[in-house]
Amino acid sequence: MAKNFNIPEKVIYVCTGSKCKKKGGKDIGKLFRTMIKDMGLKNEVEVIKTDCTDRCDFAPVMSFQPDNAWLKQATEAEAKQAFEEHILKKRTP
Ligand code: FES
Repeated sequence: MAKNFNIPEKVIYVCTGSKCKKKGGKDIGKLFRTMIKDMGLKNEVEVIKTDCTDRCDFAPVMSFQPDNAWLKQATEAEAKQAFEEHILKKRTP
């Protein structure tokens, strides 16, 4: 269990329900975690895995908060691009 109750500035919710998981959601979640770690953003950005969000036809599904930007049928390249747009570009100094 974490020692502190950290509240991140940004959260990426990645659906890892069975359909999204199979269609790349799990790998994209891992990719985000690696990027966050490598960029030293662990205290600012958090990846939260969710259960099925009832959008299975659009798997894999994820959302970037607080922008409320949603990706559907996301490829790894699109996920990276959205990460840049919604996580990196709008960071508060
Ligand atoms: S498994 Fe992701 S929306 Fe259903």
